[in-house]
Amino acid sequence: MDLTTQWLGLTLRNPLVPSASPLSRSLDACRRLEDAGAGAIVMYSLFEEAVRVEEEAMVRFLHHQDTGFGEADSFLPDHMDFPGELDRYLEQIATLKASLGIPIVASLNGVTPGGWLQHAREIRDAGADALELNVYYVAADLAQPGTAVEARYLEVLHSLRSAIDLPINLKLSPQFSSVAHLVRTLEQHGAAGVALFNRFYQPDIDVHSLRLMPALHPSTSADALLAMRWIAILHGRVALSLGATGGIHTAEDAVKLLLAGADVVHLCTALLKRGPEHLATVLAGVEAWMEEQGLESIDEVRGRLSQAAVANPAEFERAQYVQVIDSFRSGAGVRV
Ligand SMILES: Cc1cc2nc3c(=O)[nH]c(=O)nc-3n(C[C@H](O)[C@H](O)[C@H](O)COP(=O)(O)O)c2cc1C
Repeated sequence: MDLTTQWLGLTLRNPLVPSASPLSRSLDACRRLEDAGAGAIVMYSLFEEAVRVEEEAMVRFLHHQDTGFGEADSFLPDHMDFPGELDRYLEQIATLKASLGIPIVASLNGVTPGGWLQHAREIRDAGADALELNVYYVAADLAQPGTAVEARYLEVLHSLRSAIDLPINLKLSPQFSSVAHLVRTLEQHGAAGVALFNRFYQPDIDVHSLRLMPALHPSTSADALLAMRWIAILHGRVALSLGATGGIHTAEDAVKLLLAGADVVHLCTALLKRGPEHLATVLAGVEAWMEEQGLESIDEVRGRLSQAAVANPAEFERAQYVQVIDSFRSGAGVRV
């Protein structure tokens, strides 16, 4: 059975790729993911805030040390004397590359096209095979139109592209008025792929303490249907890679996203809950399903139920909504 897939210009042994999570902070967990069959690993994100804080702290430190004598500068400590988040990140890329055989994708998480993106060069030099960019931007400014939000994504993409020649994967939020148009635009501006979709973690309210509390509700398989629709709509219409993230817990979830047209399916919550070995269970389930269906390669699976391939493409759009509403049945004894 041929499970290989192409993603961001890389050939993967299969399409199961753990997405950014704390698992990649540990070499042991990454080894276990590789042993379980992972096709590649996306690392946890290096956050713009962490890089900026570090840079600002270093500038302040050096400034306060300045004695006013030119020669004194040579006694100042080197940036590398204080390994911070950036250095730890670069070291982890190098460690994973030296210890594992599968591709390692680094991840940057930020919202501005500033100088922090120049660290992408160091990420490339540390050995990353590709770079994922997660623009986790909450458009809370009432004066900012949607076009300005999209322009921000493009600006960050341009800054990165001018800094490095690695393939760039954009991890997108679903909260755009035209997801499909944005994906095509990102492709035209040089993105090698998109990961659909980033989850926004919503703050919750504790009604007893009357305080806000951060909430990170684990996903469920039902969440995967969001990416499934958009990947089905995009498959065959864009040439960049399509990755599905959010709610992929089981082999059945993975198969659905591949049938819709995903080049890779990402797992995160399922692996954090059940451990890296769960990936082997999902992989075995995908293989068993392919065997049952008489399918011999991922190429035969991918996009088989994309919008372009199904008998009634409108089912991915409004028509399905009307049918679903009509078919809903209220609970016993509830009269509507
Ligand atoms: C604990 C935790 C940490 C995460 N860290 C990152 C991160 O550093 N960068 C990032 O882009 N996504 C991060 N994510 C998002 C995941 O990669 C994934 O896209 C999201 O959780 C949806 O997939 P899932 O339903 O399989 O969890 C994190 C998710 C969780 C639960």
